[in-house]
Amino acid sequence: MKILVTGGAGYVGSHCVKLLRAGDHDVIIYDNLKQGHRQAVPDDVPLVRGDLLDRKTLADVFDNFRFDAVMHFAAMLNVNESVQFPRLYYENNVLGSLNLLGEMMTHQVRKLVFSSSCAVYGIPPRLPITEDMPKNPISPYGRTKWIVEMAMHDAAANHELGSIFLRYFNACGAAIDGSIGEDHDPEYHLIPVVLEVAQKKRSKIHIFGTDYPTPDGTNVRDYIHVDDLALAHLLALDHVQEGRAVAYNVGTGKGHSVREIIESARRVTGHSIPAEESPRREGDPPELYADPAKIKTELHWQPQITEIDAIVASAWNWHKKHPNGYDE
Ligand SMILES: NC(=O)c1ccc[n+]([C@@H]2O[C@H](COP(=O)([O-])OP(=O)(O)OC[C@H]3O[C@@H](n4cnc5c(N)ncnc54)[C@H](O)[C@@H]3O)[C@@H](O)[C@H]2O)c1
Repeated sequence: MKILVTGGAGYVGSHCVKLLRAGDHDVIIYDNLKQGHRQAVPDDVPLVRGDLLDRKTLADVFDNFRFDAVMHFAAMLNVNESVQFPRLYYENNVLGSLNLLGEMMTHQVRKLVFSSSCAVYGIPPRLPITEDMPKNPISPYGRTKWIVEMAMHDAAANHELGSIFLRYFNACGAAIDGSIGEDHDPEYHLIPVVLEVAQKKRSKIHIFGTDYPTPDGTNVRDYIHVDDLALAHLLALDHVQEGRAVAYNVGTGKGHSVREIIESARRVTGHSIPAEESPRREGDPPELYADPAKIKTELHWQPQITEIDAIVASAWNWHKKHPNGYDE
């Protein structure tokens, strides 16, 4: 298939591009490179440097290529930043997605795989989280993802589209061959930040909140390896059906606390990794982990890298090989 990958130069997108290419798909990337990196994707993959908010450049891409499907990763995703700058998030994530949807309609591209998030659930009534639980996002970021899901859902009901929403839990790790990995500026995801302490780029790791109602008082999250997310996208592509919009949780089903992640990083790196207890941050639910039964049953997805030390080791491998990220 010929696939447009928005945000394909970003962290999850680039791992998915790697897998799509291995599966002989034809990929065209659309990315504004504000967080993405040209070096994260092979030289021979066409990359259009453009913004989803730039309708003209977006329309030109759809005019120039005939796509069979779109994988839509492009978004801003820093929860705390979204609390500070909500309008920026609504513009980029909601308006950007509606522009994309508009071009898909105009050019009769009817298959979409959308990167949604467990942030759509907010604080779930019980754990593990199933797809049918209430959607009460507690951050502007989470609300942008839910609004886009609803828009795509209505487009499917109107037979204009078929979509699969993959609600990722915490993406982490790096390609096992060490070729690509996670490089955000500034970095705000727990595992790479902890590894930056091991690399002595930061003096310590802050643990935000130690009084949550969780076994050790710190936040619990479901850490899903980025290659397993990429695999979920590949399977989703084969299951998108026109007129249907279906959501799947993509997580391992197991939660790890912040303290457990730090302990894992200490084991994997051999560094002491100093930690400091700090107050809670706004918009952080205490505990989130998936029930991945639906994607396992319906898409036959099975995560391959589930041990937390193996996940952290893959990230550490990339960080050691690329101490300055992609900007060598
Ligand atoms: N990383 C996670 O843990 C996680 C969890 C849940 C959901 N998600 C979702 O997965 C997707 C990918 O996340 P990621 O971690 O790879 O992020 P990322 O920042 O590494 O990648 C996003 C890419 O999109 C590009 N982009 C953003 N806005 C754009 C716009 N308006 N026009 C063109 N390009 C734009 C960025 O330059 C970047 O390359 C996002 O939609 C995110 O919301 C990620």
